[in-house]
Amino acid sequence: MSAQLVLRQRAELVQALCCGGTPEGLESILDLLLSWGALVWEDYLSVCVAGKTLCCRTRELLDLVYSKGEFACCHLLAAFSQVLPDAQKNNLSFGKCSDVQNFQEMPTSATLTLLNDRPGMVTKLRHCVDGALDVLFQQGFLTSSECEGIQLPVYTSSQQVRRLLDLVQFKGEGAAKVLLQFLQKIPMTVLPPNKNEKPTKSAFVSEFQKKLCSSISAQFHFLSTYSGTGKFSLDDIYTEGLLELGQGGKNTQLSLNLEDVVGRVGTLNKEADTVLVSGEAGCGKSTFLQRLLLLWARKAALHNYLLLFPFSCRKLNTEERELSLKELLFLHCCWPDSDQDELFQFILDHPHLVLFTFDGLDEFKQTFSDDQRHCCPTQPAKVSVLFFNLLQGSLMKGVQKLVTSRTEAVPPTLRKYLCKEVLLKGFSTDGIDCFVRKHHSDPGIASRVLESLRSNTALLGLCHIPVFCWIVSKCYKELLGFGNSSLQTITDVYLMVLHHFFHHRISKGKRSEKGWVHDHFDTIMHLGKLALQGLQKSHYIFSETEVQNCGVTEDDIGRGFLIQSKNISFDNKHYEFLHVTMQCFFAALFITLDSSSDKLTIQRLFETECMAKGCLGILQAKKPDGPPSTEAPNLQITSTFVSGLLSQRHQGLLLQCCPIQTLHRKSKLVVKYVSRGMQNHFKSIPRPVKGEKKSMHAMPSFVWLTKCIYEMQDSKVAKNVVAKLDVEHLKLTYCNIGPLECSALAFVLQHLKSPVGLQLDSNAVGDVGVEQLLPCLHVCHSLYLRNNNISDEGIAKLVEKGVQCDTFKKIALFNNKLTDGCTQHLAYLLKTKKNFLSLRLGNNNITAAGAEQLAEGLRCSQSLQFLGLWGNKVGDKGAQALAGAMENSQALVWMSLVDNGVGSAGAQALAKVIQNSTTLEELWLSKNCITRDGVLYLVQALEKNSSVTSIWLRGNNLSPEEVEEFSLKERRLTF
Ligand SMILES: Nc1ncnc2c1ncn2[C@@H]1O[C@H](COP(=O)(O)OP(=O)(O)OP(=O)(O)O)[C@@H](O)[C@H]1O
Ligand SMILES: [Mg+2]
Repeated sequence: MSAQLVLRQRAELVQALCCGGTPEGLESILDLLLSWGALVWEDYLSVCVAGKTLCCRTRELLDLVYSKGEFACCHLLAAFSQVLPDAQKNNLSFGKCSDVQNFQEMPTSATLTLLNDRPGMVTKLRHCVDGALDVLFQQGFLTSSECEGIQLPVYTSSQQVRRLLDLVQFKGEGAAKVLLQFLQKIPMTVLPPNKNEKPTKSAFVSEFQKKLCSSISAQFHFLSTYSGTGKFSLDDIYTEGLLELGQGGKNTQLSLNLEDVVGRVGTLNKEADTVLVSGEAGCGKSTFLQRLLLLWARKAALHNYLLLFPFSCRKLNTEERELSLKELLFLHCCWPDSDQDELFQFILDHPHLVLFTFDGLDEFKQTFSDDQRHCCPTQPAKVSVLFFNLLQGSLMKGVQKLVTSRTEAVPPTLRKYLCKEVLLKGFSTDGIDCFVRKHHSDPGIASRVLESLRSNTALLGLCHIPVFCWIVSKCYKELLGFGNSSLQTITDVYLMVLHHFFHHRISKGKRSEKGWVHDHFDTIMHLGKLALQGLQKSHYIFSETEVQNCGVTEDDIGRGFLIQSKNISFDNKHYEFLHVTMQCFFAALFITLDSSSDKLTIQRLFETECMAKGCLGILQAKKPDGPPSTEAPNLQITSTFVSGLLSQRHQGLLLQCCPIQTLHRKSKLVVKYVSRGMQNHFKSIPRPVKGEKKSMHAMPSFVWLTKCIYEMQDSKVAKNVVAKLDVEHLKLTYCNIGPLECSALAFVLQHLKSPVGLQLDSNAVGDVGVEQLLPCLHVCHSLYLRNNNISDEGIAKLVEKGVQCDTFKKIALFNNKLTDGCTQHLAYLLKTKKNFLSLRLGNNNITAAGAEQLAEGLRCSQSLQFLGLWGNKVGDKGAQALAGAMENSQALVWMSLVDNGVGSAGAQALAKVIQNSTTLEELWLSKNCITRDGVLYLVQALEKNSSVTSIWLRGNNLSPEEVEEFSLKERRLTF
């Protein structure tokens, strides 16, 4: 039985041990098997041969244990059950093995004692390996090179103990006795770490490491957005964001923790060393990196890396000299006080102990290119050449690199050099809650802010992006004081923060009657000019001279929008905007308010190269070399703000310092260019192949233009723009669609003339996003929301609206967070909507109880044709309930219960349906536990059925002989 379980779950067991990329799981299992006597020493050595990959070793262990029979297999399952975290155990079956007893006799020797108590030894010795090595060295059982071999920093402390135990086992009884004596004394003996440590060649490495750690701690202790407030260190305010594997990863829905990002999980290209963390503006990429750096500096994470070099792309931009790699490392990150050559040699010799991080690839002046190869670490070259060759792997192969970037700014040429991509999707709804509570020490205020957000879901949607969440929390008085219903768009939010800064820092009595924008016109224009000039040159750090040249005064600086750059290696004062999005907002204010900014400025802003090239060109907007071109993602954000500022709703405010005619003129231009951009996009839709639906795969610029229209909050513009759009299917997969984008899409798409299938798979829609989409549900015949972090709450809202929309007929919700809590709503949908066609709920957490509720709905539906429940847990009971409901169905054509723990009882119930159905064509029952009896029922039922074309039964409890027998008997069964 246990052996069968091991064999059947082989792939899952290998995956469970290898997905984390670290060997700790496998090694802990080996410890247990040795101590239980399920493996002997020789078995253990054969699995542990150096140089094999983790997966290879795991597979060998499984083979070995399987060949040893039932006893070993039962203990193997017990060891897995003990070692794996609960979340990973859910999909595995351990039979009756999870709790095996250890019947080992009392050990008769010291070496056997070490073996019997190996798991405990690993735990006990972990904190005093150095002490144990000392004792064994002094008593002559180990040589100094053996000690050094064990202490190598590549090993974790548990691995160091295991290597020590293996060596002592090999040395024999004497050494084992000394180790046991040492262990008995541990509580009494205080052993300073690394006592008597001989000066090793790595002493200078430790010195430098110390300096790096303290420099990182000093530099990254505070967040720039809290600079000058004296409030909140990163530790006080850091809130976990949502991290997921990017496109192409096998398990994209897997949420990652901080360390997984540089770990092996999700690796797509083993040859590459560069991990990309991508996401939208303000979604927390720099903050995430900052957290990682701080944890490393405190030795609380990334223990495998001895040295970590943090680079900022915006600072690399300021480097005009040609440098060697050595100079780049030391000048831009941390200068070693001595032994520079030795240190650099150490880095070259130990690439796997070094990590480079680069924040803000999108802020780098030049686009990544792999035209110019440079491999020599000592030869000077332009910074861009060094940087690109590091990312691409020609330079410092083996050193892991972590780079952050806005998603839309990642050039396709870089992708082939990526080991994996991790998407940072901002805060979850719980994350917003947590952040707001951290931000406000007064729980009463925090609760009021959260209540206020919940009452305005458009604003709540915005807060999934941390930078907006920060603003809303910062401006809580405005939020609570003036009511929040007028806050819909990001322009609204940034106007609020602008008002907040001016209002808080103005000296009393200085306010005029002409309004606050008028009062601060000069400051706005000075900062706006600086901001725009910077954006045009990919310039985010400003020297004092640059600041002064734009007329920025000390007083302007005192408003708090500009902060002093915390890059410590600058000689003179340098400034940055609190956040790049703030720089974009000031640039937008300048374009809007400056009387001399003309048609061309606005035209350029909207008619980027991307439009001319059918919206793909945006990625090529920057030239690899030559003069730096405009910075596309930030110009898009700026244009979004310009759209918002020039909208009717903010004209009153801007009229304080700009004539109405100018505002009208500029506003008309924006509408013209946005509409033209959309039309260009629609023109690029290929004609449909005969017989296929006319479908449009939207490009990122489509989402951007939609957001511009949303900022305007002008339905007339939205209506005009989509009036001529004639498609049946709108595909927006992997487009970084969060709640804010959902609001914008719904705002525009609700005016479509004819219904579409809206495909939003693999985005970050979430429950709040679902709610934002409701205004356009009446123009969707199908809604595809696979892999979008949606829970039961979102479904409740979707159904409430869905039942009122006549055209809405299909929904796909594969791979979300659905449980039995949503099935009553879906059952209501099936009962109420007489024309509903397709419900796909694969890979969620629906059990028998949920299936029973769905069955209630199914019983009343005479329209549902497709029902997908792949990868849930409905079991026999659920299958029986569904089958009972299907007996009267005159519509169901396709159903999947793949991987649902369905056995022969379930199959028997489904056989009854088959017997009477005249519509059912395909039934998917693969990966269940149906036995011979169950298949016999299906075969008998098929004899009386002519509509079914195939029943899929691959991966059930059948022997190869049975499979062959049934395949011959009934060709519609597929194994
Ligand atoms: N995990 C987090 N915890 C708490 N606050 C956060 C977090 N992430 C971001 N923030 C807040 O949002 C602000 C903006 O985040 P950050 O600068 O990291 O975004 P970004 O993704 O790097 O933006 P850009 O694309 O413009 O570089 C931070 O200064 C901080 O106030
Ligand atoms: Mg950033």
